[in-house]
Amino acid sequence: MPFYSKVLETSCAKHVDKELRASHAGETGAVWIYRGALCAEFLLSLFIIGNRPSKTKPFIHEHLRTEKSHLAIFEHEMPLFRGSFLLPAWIAAGFVTGLLPRLLGHNWFFYTIYCVEQFVDKHYEKQCSSMIMLSEPPSNVINRFKECQIDERHHRDEALSLMTEQPTLLMTLWGKLVGSGSSLAVAMAKLI
Ligand SMILES: [Fe+2]
Ligand SMILES: [Fe+2]
Repeated sequence: MPFYSKVLETSCAKHVDKELRASHAGETGAVWIYRGALCAEFLLSLFIIGNRPSKTKPFIHEHLRTEKSHLAIFEHEMPLFRGSFLLPAWIAAGFVTGLLPRLLGHNWFFYTIYCVEQFVDKHYEKQCSSMIMLSEPPSNVINRFKECQIDERHHRDEALSLMTEQPTLLMTLWGKLVGSGSSLAVAMAKLI
């Protein structure tokens, strides 16, 4: 194989490795968002007398199931990649991102999920576009990313449809923080 082809192949492999690491970190964080939310549900249940039916609990359980299936795709069906060394930080960040808003109320929680999934949808889109441009596009990875992206879009729209009032200014600021935190996390996970 000519030298330049080898260099090109190595740089493609590095690119795909980074994208896999970033999205694996994201899907790990997503699983922990719902674990954090479940923890909040438990804490809230200690202070609520009687069993009021909640819209959040079935939502959390269903989304947790999907996010676990996304994580399994990365861990069992993707080419081998190096995981992020910062996984414990993504787990903690995910947990807090699910716990806090759920404690603040269902609109806070659904709005947070809407913001997270909005970010994830755009991120998967960007990743797929960049991988399609590679000299040897990894079609299996791109197809898997697209499968996950369809679920994330559904999660985003479902969360928005369950909101019962417009987001407050504070919620909007929180949503922006979640978006910029997610961008920073992606940049860091690609490297570390
Ligand atoms: Fe996901
Ligand atoms: Fe999702």
